[in-house]
Amino acid sequence: MKNINNYIQKHKDRFLEELISLLKIPSISADSAYKNDVIRTADVIKTRLDEAGCDTVEICETPGYPIVYGEKIIDKNLPTVLVYGHYDVQPPDPLDLWDSPPFEPVIKKTELHPEGAIYARGACDDKGQMYMHVKALEIMTKNNTLPCNVKFMIEGEEEVGSESLAWFVPRNKEKLSNDVILISDTGMIAKETPSITTGLRGLSYVEVEVTGPNRDLHSGLYGGAVANPINILTKMIASLHDENNHITIPGFYNKVEELSDTERAEMAKAPFSLDKYKKSLDIESVYGEKGYTTNERNSIRPTLDVNGIWGGYIGEGAKTVIASKAYAKISMRLVPHQDWKEITELFKNHFESIAPKGVKVKVTPHHGGQGYVTPIDSVGYQAASKAYEKTFGKTPIPQRSGGSIPIVSLFEQELKSKTILMGFGLDSDAIHSPNEHFGIWNYLMGIETIPWFYKYYTELSK
Ligand code: BES
Ligand code: MN
Ligand code: MN
Repeated sequence: MKNINNYIQKHKDRFLEELISLLKIPSISADSAYKNDVIRTADVIKTRLDEAGCDTVEICETPGYPIVYGEKIIDKNLPTVLVYGHYDVQPPDPLDLWDSPPFEPVIKKTELHPEGAIYARGACDDKGQMYMHVKALEIMTKNNTLPCNVKFMIEGEEEVGSESLAWFVPRNKEKLSNDVILISDTGMIAKETPSITTGLRGLSYVEVEVTGPNRDLHSGLYGGAVANPINILTKMIASLHDENNHITIPGFYNKVEELSDTERAEMAKAPFSLDKYKKSLDIESVYGEKGYTTNERNSIRPTLDVNGIWGGYIGEGAKTVIASKAYAKISMRLVPHQDWKEITELFKNHFESIAPKGVKVKVTPHHGGQGYVTPIDSVGYQAASKAYEKTFGKTPIPQRSGGSIPIVSLFEQELKSKTILMGFGLDSDAIHSPNEHFGIWNYLMGIETIPWFYKYYTELSK
């Protein structure tokens, strides 16, 4: 195991170049114009898994984008780790806010990353983090230190709801059978503060359409006399939160688990500076549900946000018009026990019920998924904790994240195994935003830490 670091030092330039070449392919799953690029990315991953030492690698076709599956089975009696990751990325827009083109990776040094960071869409979420596992496998196979079996399942639709993976998993339970699932698609508290993600929020994503008159109207001739869909939609949206920023949908909080004071006190121990937080976002004050701290608001509490809203005239100059239709995309982040389908139904019923006469409302559910929490006394968590201790010299802090990886709860349901979320990203990596990046230090630390997880997991499983 001593050789891990030597191997990384010797091959780090290639490790970087390989990631950079992967980042050049615009595998945007949301936009069908990039279909060939998404498929091409799957082929590249297949080749790389092959080269890293998998015995079998295959492209598994699905109704949507393919899943890359690879495995190296050394002994059926040893534990099996299933690595999950995604090769698709978020759309890069707005393009003009990028300092360099999103699919032409560049390395830049910053105050936080004196070793340099790779700037590109997908650098952290999730090509960079997924690829750490491929390189960790290479190290273990080349040094002959792989202590257990490993399977890889890399999908191409995570950013659009993992529909094809949800189709694939129940049909391939035998193939995917494992003792623990390992994912690097989350973050850690800070470079000097490693953490392990112990919870993810669920998600319900809906689109709403409000229709008023049967055509766009002159706002002088008709304004004030008919319902304006945009006025109505914004009023309806505003009513979804009360003055304390609680969500007003009846039944929304019914299943929300309230944490005990002890649990909340434990959470509050995690290092966090509200000042730095505000400064990094250039805001004077935080905002959110009354009675909860910022870290609670973005992890253990459910939320509702408008992600996009449109309608009417938005071109240059002014056009006097009452639009016939207004639209919004709304997401609700959910906490464990809230059922996303039930919440979607509650939203739909409520939203339709608050529509005034004079407009028609249509609610279309998009995708969703359940939240997830994992205990810290499992063998998997303990192994991950020891691995971070080994490379960071510090015990990682358990932390519930506000993000979602909806497929994780499906893994537990279908494959009956727990997921360990070993993330190496930082909040400042700007995932889903312009100028996404991933620190080279973080990338290499991930590659170095992962083999220790395998070692400790195998030892602790005995
Ligand atoms: N990797 C993220 C989720 C994430 C990031 C979790 C950081 C925790 C910390 C993932 O790719 C993602 O973006 N998920 C989506 C949900 C999906 C259904 C589109 C999300 O959270 O918005
Ligand atoms: Mn991701
Ligand atoms: Mn993402």
